[in-house]
Amino acid sequence: MQSAHIHLSDTLLSELSDCISEQIGLYFPKKRWADLERGLEAATRQFDQPDSLSCVRWLLSAPLSRDQIEVLSRHLTVGETYFFREKRSLDILAEQIIPSLLNARASTDRRLRFWSAGCSTGEEAYSIAMLLDRVIPRPDQWAVSILATDINPVVLRKARAGVYSAWSFRDTPDWMRTHYFARTKGDHYEIHARIRELVTFSYLNLVDDAYSSITNNTHAMDVILCRNVLMYFTPAQAKKVIDHFYDVLVEGGWLIVGAVETSLTLFSRYTAAGFPGAAIYRKCANAELPTVQPVDEQPHPAYQLDEPALPRNLLAAEALAFVDAPPDGSIDPARSVLPVADLFMVGAVQREDLAQQALLCANEGRHDEAVVWCEQAIASDKFNPVYLYLLATIQQEQGQYDSALESLMRALYLDPDFVLAHFALGNQCLQLGRHAEAERYFRNALMLLNRQPRDDLLPSSDGLTVGRLIEIITGLLPELPHRGGRYMNMSGTP
Ligand SMILES: C[S@@+](CC[C@H](N)C(=O)[O-])C[C@H]1O[C@@H](n2cnc3c(N)ncnc32)[C@H](O)[C@@H]1O
Repeated sequence: MQSAHIHLSDTLLSELSDCISEQIGLYFPKKRWADLERGLEAATRQFDQPDSLSCVRWLLSAPLSRDQIEVLSRHLTVGETYFFREKRSLDILAEQIIPSLLNARASTDRRLRFWSAGCSTGEEAYSIAMLLDRVIPRPDQWAVSILATDINPVVLRKARAGVYSAWSFRDTPDWMRTHYFARTKGDHYEIHARIRELVTFSYLNLVDDAYSSITNNTHAMDVILCRNVLMYFTPAQAKKVIDHFYDVLVEGGWLIVGAVETSLTLFSRYTAAGFPGAAIYRKCANAELPTVQPVDEQPHPAYQLDEPALPRNLLAAEALAFVDAPPDGSIDPARSVLPVADLFMVGAVQREDLAQQALLCANEGRHDEAVVWCEQAIASDKFNPVYLYLLATIQQEQGQYDSALESLMRALYLDPDFVLAHFALGNQCLQLGRHAEAERYFRNALMLLNRQPRDDLLPSSDGLTVGRLIEIITGLLPELPHRGGRYMNMSGTP
C-alpha cells in the first residue's frame, strides 16, 4: 500500500526519537530527523499503516513489540560491512590476542569463545572463523564457539546463507576468497560449510534483551567484537551496552570496538589494551592480572593477511596449488556505476539530493555509484567542502587511501576550519603509520572543537556532538607513540 506523506510535528518526532533510543539504542537528534522520517515512511509501508502519522501514534501507544523493533531496525540501521573490515584490529586479534589465549588455555579447558555483536550480514563473524582456522594449530583439539547476533532479521538470514557478492570482498586478498569460498551462480561466493558451521547466528537486541546468560549462550566470552554499532547509539545507551559487555567477558577478556569508537568515559570500567590504531579494551577486575599479557610481537607465522602465507592445515602440494591459483573475479566497477543516461536526469535534482543519493548508495555498499553521485554534487557546488569530505569517506571505504587524503586536503583548502576533515586526516595518517602528521591533525581538530559549546552537533557528522569528538580524539592521542612530551592535555593545548 502506498502511504501518504504527512507532516509530523516536532513533538511527535521527538517522542519517536526518544522511544527508538530507549528501545533500540539508535540516536536521532533533531538534525537527523530527515533520516528518521525516511526510515519511518518505509516502515509505515511495511506495517501496512495508512500514513506515517497513524504509524507513529500506533508505535507510541505501547512498548514496542519484537515485530515492530525488527521492522524499525531494518529501516533505521546501517548494515554496511565487509570481510576483514578494519584489518588492524583483526591483525591484533590474530597475532596477539588469540595466541595469548591459546597459550593460557592449552593446559586447561582448551575452550575459546567469541561474540560478534551487531554482526549485520555476517562478514565479521566469518572473518573471525577464517582467521581462527589459520591460527589454531590443531582445531580438532579445541572447543571454539563464535556467536553472531543482530537486531535485524533480514541481515541475519543473509548471514546464515553465507553467500556473498564480490563487493563483500573489497578489502580481502583474493587468495582468502579462493580458499574459503566456492563460486556459485550469478557471480556469488558461498562460504565453505566447515567455516559456516563454526558460527551461530541469532537475534539479539543489545539494548533490550537479556545477555550474560547461559540460556542464549551470551556468557563467559573471551573476545567481544562490537565494531561500528555503538557509534549510532545515544551515549547513554552505548555506555549501558559497554557496561553490560563487562559482565559477559571472562576475567582478562577483550572488547574490540570500531577504530573511531574509542572514549575515555564510555570504557571507564575497562583497561585500554594500548594497541595503536585499534580500539581494544580489556576486563581486568583483578589487580593481579597483567594489563596486557606479554605476547611475542612477531606476526603469527600462519596468519599474515597481506601475504598469502601457506594455510596451516593444507598438505604441501595442496598449498602450492592454492598459492599459485590466479585471483578470480575482481570487482567490475562498470557493473555498479550509474548508467550515463541516468546522469542527465540529475540536472533537475537538488545538490543535497545528489549528496543524499551518494550517501544512500554508500550505505548500501554501492560505492562506485556513490562516487558518481558525489562527483556530481561537487561539480554542482565547487566551493562546498562537505561533498569532498563525503567523497573522501567513500574513497576510504573503497581502500583508496591516497585519493581520500587528496579529497580531504581539498576540503581543508576550501574550509581550513572544517573540524571533521582534520579529524579524518588524523585517522588516515594514523592508519598509514604517519603518527606525527596524525597528531598535528588531531591537535588542529581539538583546537577548533574547543571553541564551540560541547553540546553542539557537528555539521555533516550524523549526530556527533562537539564534546563526543573531543572525547574520541583525547582517547586516541595517548595511543600515538610518545614524541618528546608533546602530548596535549584534555583541552587540546600542548
Ligand atoms: C554497520 S553494521 C556493523 C557490522 C560489523 N560489526 C562491522 O563492523 O562491519 C551495524 C549493525 O548493528 C546492528 N544494530 C543496530 N542496533 C542494534 C541493536 N540495538 N542490537 C543489535 N544490533 C544492532 C544493525 O542492525 C547493523 O547490522
